[in-house]
Amino acid sequence: MKILVTAKLPYDVLKHLEGHEVDYNNTDDPLTPAELAERAKDADAVISMLSDKITADFMKGCPNLKVVANYAVGYNNIDVAAAKELGITVCNTPDVLTQATAELGFSLMMAAGRRIVESDKFTRDRKFRGWKSDMMLGVDFYGKTIGIFGFGRIGQAVARMAAGFNMKILYHSRSKKYSAEMAMNASFVDFEKLLRKSDFIIITAPANEGTKHKFTMDAFKQMKPTSVLVNIGRGEIVKESDLADALEQKLIFAAGLDVYEFEPVIEERLFALDNVVLAPHIGSGTTDTRAAMGALCCDSVLSVFAGKTPNNAL
Ligand code: DGY
Repeated sequence: MKILVTAKLPYDVLKHLEGHEVDYNNTDDPLTPAELAERAKDADAVISMLSDKITADFMKGCPNLKVVANYAVGYNNIDVAAAKELGITVCNTPDVLTQATAELGFSLMMAAGRRIVESDKFTRDRKFRGWKSDMMLGVDFYGKTIGIFGFGRIGQAVARMAAGFNMKILYHSRSKKYSAEMAMNASFVDFEKLLRKSDFIIITAPANEGTKHKFTMDAFKQMKPTSVLVNIGRGEIVKESDLADALEQKLIFAAGLDVYEFEPVIEERLFALDNVVLAPHIGSGTTDTRAAMGALCCDSVLSVFAGKTPNNAL
C-alpha cells in the first residue's frame, strides 16, 4: 500500500508504517495543491494536515484512496460528505489532543487577561523603572464567569480547569449536554446571555454553517468592556475585522487567538494592538500530544487497510 504523509511530523511515521511504501514530505514546506494532487494520485492513504484542502475533486483524482487520516481534531478542510460517497474513510485525532488544546486556551485567556505578552515586551524594552501601583493592570479570574462556546471534549476540559478558579461556568452549544452540565456544575444559556454575562468567553466550537461569523460587532457590543475573548476553535467563527475594531475601540478588554479567519493571513491591524495575544495555531502543540496524534493517524490508516472501521472514523 502507498501512504502519502503530506508534512513533516514530530513522530517516527516511517517506523510505524513499516512494510508499506511511504511518500513522506519530510521538508519544512507544505505541499502546494498541485503537488498534493500529483503525489496522492496513486496513494491508498493520505495522512493530511489541517492546511491541506481535501476536496471532492482531489479525492476523485485518487482512485486507490481508501482512507484520509487528518492530523487534527477539526476536519473542516475535508469534504467528508464527498469522501463518504466515494467510499473513502476519513479519520481525525480526537481525545489525544483534548487536554493540550484546552491548556493552550486557558494560557491564552490568562496571558490576555493579565497582559503577560505586553508586560514582557515592556520589560524587554527596558521600560520597567520601578514598581507602580497602576502598572499593567489586568482582570481577575477567581470567582468570575466563564462562557464556553462549544461544549464538546475541549470545552468540557476548559470547564474542569475553570472549576479550579472557582469560576461560574456558562456554555452555549448546538445541544444541551445534560451529564456534562451536572458533572461540571455548568449552565446552558442562549448566545445573547453568554455574551452579556461572561467575564471570559472561550470559543472551542468547530467551523460549520451554524458557527461561521457568530462573533461580529453585534456580539462584541453585547460583551462586557472588561471581558476577554479567546478563540481556539476555528478562525471563521470570528469576523476578524470586527474584532480588530472592537479591540481598537476597547469594547472588550482583550483577546487571545490561536486560529484566524483567513489562516495563515491575519488581519493586519491586530499586529499593532497590545490587547491581543496571537499564537500560530499551536493548540495541540506539545511534544507528547503531537506524537500521540501521529500514532493515531498511522493506526487509523493501518486499521482501514486491515478492513476495520476505526473508532475515530467520521
Ligand atoms: C485541531 O487539531 O483541529 C485543533 O486546531 C488543535 O490545534
